[in-house]
Amino acid sequence: MPDTIDRTTSRSRLFEYLALSEDEFVPGSVLTEKLGFTRQALFKHICALREEGLKITSVPQKGYMLNNISGTDSISQTLIDHLLRDEPLFNRSICFPTITSTQHAIKRLAQQDAPEGIVAVADEQTEGRGRRGRFWHAPASKNLLFSVLLRPDLKPGDVQLLNLAAGLAVRSVLKDQYKVDARLKWPNDILVNGRKICGILSEAAGEPDRIYYAVTGIGINVNFTEEDMGEDVKNIATSIKIEKGHTVPRPLLLSQILHSFSSYILDLKKMDGKEKLLSSYRKECDTIGREISVMQDEEKFTGTALGITEQGALIVKVGEVEKIFAAADVTHLRMK
Ligand code: BTN
Repeated sequence: MPDTIDRTTSRSRLFEYLALSEDEFVPGSVLTEKLGFTRQALFKHICALREEGLKITSVPQKGYMLNNISGTDSISQTLIDHLLRDEPLFNRSICFPTITSTQHAIKRLAQQDAPEGIVAVADEQTEGRGRRGRFWHAPASKNLLFSVLLRPDLKPGDVQLLNLAAGLAVRSVLKDQYKVDARLKWPNDILVNGRKICGILSEAAGEPDRIYYAVTGIGINVNFTEEDMGEDVKNIATSIKIEKGHTVPRPLLLSQILHSFSSYILDLKKMDGKEKLLSSYRKECDTIGREISVMQDEEKFTGTALGITEQGALIVKVGEVEKIFAAADVTHLRMK
């Protein structure tokens, strides 16, 4: 397994020291003395932090100043380690400027026995994966693209619960922190005014009665604009930037979502965790009570969404029969 977090590296020690005096100058002499660097080494680490996209101002006679940590948008390993440092579950990360898919990265780590909670984040994916083998498109440096490794004590049939937990976490952050009217469409889409802002994909490996590991991947349209979108998604996708008119720094958003997601995942490990999760999801899910159409194995069903089963499947009244869909593509037909 690669050394994903080494908070003792000189670079991260320098960052943490500068972060203690964010937006204030720290003299170079203080940094060299406190951190035991030569002036040359200090300069080298400052350059490396700047290359990660961190804003560090330097003024002769004053020193160095680390600016606006929470407002920085780069997928910087040092910054993300810093933001996740106190997280109970998701406190180890690996950042990629570009990768095929963060799902692949986490699967590889899982097969090398990496511990639960590791997060892979990418600035760009060349083979981003959506549900049902679809391509997940996201231009470089605009959206939040990450996957996490989970080792839940669940049966393979319960994997849908991870999608529901991730959906609840993303929705609450978008709503509470960014005032975005995000709604949950079963099983794993988040919509704003009927347009998709987030997609979630959970995949698991295991035996019929046990999961070895699960990978939950989340793609959020953050600073994506209409100009960045292909014709195929223009009318069906949106982003925080489109909804709110301003950009949002992705590392902070990532840490907020992981913080919320971890509370759902840690709750799931408790006795009544599954019930609690299902009851929150049933309350928040915008699909329940709607007229919907469901595509499953090339067959289309139209009916009313009635509820969610213990395994996170959707109960739909189709004509006079209640049908249960474990996984399917749903379209909301009309307002409730
Ligand atoms: C969907 O709605 O179809 C699910 C999309 C999931 C996309 C995310 S982006 C980060 C992670 N890496 C991937 O390749 N896919 C997921």
